[in-house]
Amino acid sequence: MKQVEMAMQRHEINYQELKTDAELSADDQELLGKAKQALLKSYSPYSRFQVGAAARLSNGMIISGFNIENAAYPVCLCAEQTTIAAVRTQFPDTGIQAMAISVKSAHHLVDQPATPCGQCRQLLSEQERNNPTTIRLILQGETGPIWIFRSVNDLLPFSFTGEWL
Ligand code: THU
Repeated sequence: MKQVEMAMQRHEINYQELKTDAELSADDQELLGKAKQALLKSYSPYSRFQVGAAARLSNGMIISGFNIENAAYPVCLCAEQTTIAAVRTQFPDTGIQAMAISVKSAHHLVDQPATPCGQCRQLLSEQERNNPTTIRLILQGETGPIWIFRSVNDLLPFSFTGEWL
């Protein structure tokens, strides 16, 4: 059978990896610290996986949130969702500069960053489209390396947008 040579397109994802939070700027250290404080308030009796997020706004405020689970599992709210809901209810029109996300598990030591789930990427992606700048993402597990993405879009290339509607 004849093989058809197909030219493949490539998409590259760029991110920074830092070894410890000592390499972060003071602002980013503060933001990550707020995400880590927030995860301690997580309501996650089912997964025992605590997620905290903290958003730095262009007015200097930091707003945080955490995951809230439910016995009806699909009702669970991710930390990114509660954080965006808190930001937008209090500051409907304010820019978001960065969001830090951290996680902790009761079952094992999380020593790699956990990246936002697909639904949260979609949520954050549209927030970024309406934002004056890209939204930087700063991710760390309970310990281990820190990943920094310059834009939500880097985590959700080819995203679905309102332009199709
Ligand atoms: N979770 C988040 O809060 N954010 C994510 O991006 C992924 C998952 C939460 C949902 C659930 O409470 C727990 O982590 C396990 O999936």
